[in-house]
Amino acid sequence: MPVDIQPYLDRKREAVDRYLEGHLPAPHSSPAVLHESIQYSLLAGGKRIRPILTMASAEAIGPPPAAVLPVACAFELIHTYSLIHDDLPAMDNDDFRRGKATNHKVYGDGMAILAGDGLHTMAFEWCSRADLVTDVDPRCQVRIIEELALGAGTAGMVGGQALDLQAEHQRVEWEALQQIHAHKTGRLIRAAVRAGALLSGATMTQYEHLTGYAEDIGLAFQITDDILNVTGTRAALGKDAQTDGERGKQTYPSVYGLDGARRLARECVDRAVTRLDGFDEKADPLRGIAHYIVNRTH
Ligand code: IPE
Ligand code: IPE
Ligand code: MG
Ligand code: MG
Repeated sequence: MPVDIQPYLDRKREAVDRYLEGHLPAPHSSPAVLHESIQYSLLAGGKRIRPILTMASAEAIGPPPAAVLPVACAFELIHTYSLIHDDLPAMDNDDFRRGKATNHKVYGDGMAILAGDGLHTMAFEWCSRADLVTDVDPRCQVRIIEELALGAGTAGMVGGQALDLQAEHQRVEWEALQQIHAHKTGRLIRAAVRAGALLSGATMTQYEHLTGYAEDIGLAFQITDDILNVTGTRAALGKDAQTDGERGKQTYPSVYGLDGARRLARECVDRAVTRLDGFDEKADPLRGIAHYIVNRTH
């Protein structure tokens, strides 16, 4: 019987929120509008699942170093940047995100692009700063920064977003759909998990098993996002629902039906949990998160 993961998620989310609030440029510091727009999107809530995965992955190996928080939060900075850009009129053209008007609706397209750019570079700043990352071997730190770059870049999230854009109003084969999901969502999740593993000094075998776990939950995460786009409401999701169909996106429910998509997501989670067979109870949060990902309602 899986443990109740909610208290763990709440505790970790609060730690992430506190760290973000404590380390962001103040909203009144110059350029004030830019910093205000960054705070607007970043501190609007959000499940913080990527930084939580970094922490849970590190804990699955052993006691994590203090630097787990800046590294974990760097993944949230990249993720929030990706959401701000994803919502732009030139991309998904969405009006709501995290229960509020999208960044560009409030600050304009130009400032929203810059807020995303600022968050993007801030992620690399936080991972490289000697005063934040105090207790990690510099070679390990560089490996983590490499993971962040690969997860975010053209071989990762940005590459997946490009494939997603090109696939609008096209019929895509299921392999292509899986590639889109694996990149636009999966690669950053994988990098977040791997960064945690590196921080705690995982062995090569542990790193590989955690990589497999991350790939499976990454796909399950985006399949569930697709399902919620069909079944959810703006009130529950904090973003508009039924938009994928309007925009001509092929998704798991559009290809496999809702039941088929749910089944595939559950299969991914079962596979992910099996990948953790060699880990002890310190990996229970990772097991719980895998189940949470498909059972979530927003
Ligand atoms: C939404 O991500 C976009 C995807 C990559 C599927 P989340 O569902 O993690 O959004 P927040 O961070 O909780 O708002
Ligand atoms: C978002 O994918 C992926 C990234 C932001 C990288 P979607 O466009 O499907 O996510 P939502 O539904 O807008 O959150
Ligand atoms: Mg999109
Ligand atoms: Mg979108």
